[in-house]
Amino acid sequence: MTPNEYDISIIGGLGHVGLPFGVVLALCGFRVALYDLDLKKRTMVREGRMPFIEHGADELLPRLIADGALQVVDSLDEAACAQTIVVTIGTPLDEYQNPRLEPVFRLARELKAHLMPGQHVMLRSTVFPGTTRQLAKFLGDTGAEVSFCPERIVQGHAIRELRELPQIVSGIGPGTAERAAAIFRRMGVTTNTCLVEEAELAKLYLNAWRYIQFAAANQFYQIATDRGLDYAKIYDAMTTGYERGKALPKPGFAAGPCLLKDTMQLAAATPNGFQLGRAAALVNEGLPEFILRRLQRLGGALDMATVGILGMAFKADIDDTRDSLSFKLKKLLEFAGCRVLCSDEYATGDGWVTKEELVEQSNVVIIGTPHAAYAGMKVPQGTHVCDVWGILS
Ligand SMILES: NC(=O)c1ccc[n+]([C@@H]2O[C@H](COP(=O)([O-])OP(=O)(O)OC[C@H]3O[C@@H](n4cnc5c(N)ncnc54)[C@H](O)[C@@H]3O)[C@@H](O)[C@H]2O)c1
Repeated sequence: MTPNEYDISIIGGLGHVGLPFGVVLALCGFRVALYDLDLKKRTMVREGRMPFIEHGADELLPRLIADGALQVVDSLDEAACAQTIVVTIGTPLDEYQNPRLEPVFRLARELKAHLMPGQHVMLRSTVFPGTTRQLAKFLGDTGAEVSFCPERIVQGHAIRELRELPQIVSGIGPGTAERAAAIFRRMGVTTNTCLVEEAELAKLYLNAWRYIQFAAANQFYQIATDRGLDYAKIYDAMTTGYERGKALPKPGFAAGPCLLKDTMQLAAATPNGFQLGRAAALVNEGLPEFILRRLQRLGGALDMATVGILGMAFKADIDDTRDSLSFKLKKLLEFAGCRVLCSDEYATGDGWVTKEELVEQSNVVIIGTPHAAYAGMKVPQGTHVCDVWGILS
């Protein structure tokens, strides 16, 4: 096999970033190989089935697989047979909320043996500042070029957004950023070129900024609620007909695999600094505890109560439960002695019930995720409702 077997291969290619990117690249005429360690996903995708919700992908995937435009491969060796090798593996934190650097460099060690001069390695995962230059240094003697082109999609809407959002591109060495930009231009998007260090920060800043906005909303919600005021009314008063107020998001669980993780990556890169990011984490991660304390203040024995959490996914209308705060809330409630029921419209879990069963059996209903299916749902009289998003009313 030669580096010309595929135009592009994606390592981590069956994840939430890699797979939609592969679908769109194949749609745009590239010959694409997807490689992923996850054997179950490899089987599913080969059969043309999406392993998670991604709007628009269910129709495209079987066609592209059948055409051979998109191929699932079983080894790094095969994935390395491409002109451009894109890396979209996860870049998680460790248990102390420090960035784990080893997944990218472990992969780099394995990949190095396969690389040839002139190949292009595009890093697309969100990385700790400095990673791209270190990676290029590590791969330097292979003669491969290294670019960093961060992904900025909203999970669930990647198929559309990948063909709309401008792409930040950066590269090490002459012509590398341009080589990366040419791929995105063929996808029909504009590109914005900067230094790799600038691109790394741009991606982290965007996620940290979003996370801080959610923290502001959650803190405002807590202040108002503690004063016995209706935050939904305050929010309405602040934002209705007032453009400058509209940047304020609604309160609710700010969770998932990216926002906290990337805020902490930035904090780790700013020794003793980025207090704003750390404060945002305290507020956002503290919301389940705040909800529990409110319930405790209601009076009545919480250890006799059945509490239902409606929505276990980390955000609305997707099936991804990674790092969802609904699970933290469940743990706190169970520790306080409650019987906890869980339900979700898209995700499934052991012992979970339907939304109707949950509402029927619970003394307290808490909205964990504002799935559209919960909008306007009725709960029996006498059931206490905690609906931070205001989706039921
Ligand atoms: N999910 C998002 O909306 C989003 C948006 C922008 C950026 N990102 C970033 O993109 C990266 C990937 O995120 P994701 O949500 O797609 O994660 P994911 O867990 O859905 O996908 C990562 C995939 O990589 C595979 N993998 C891990 N190590 C591998 C290896 N050595 N070789 C082959 N496959 C391997 C995993 O099996 C998994 O399928 C992260 O850095 C994340 O921060 C995510």
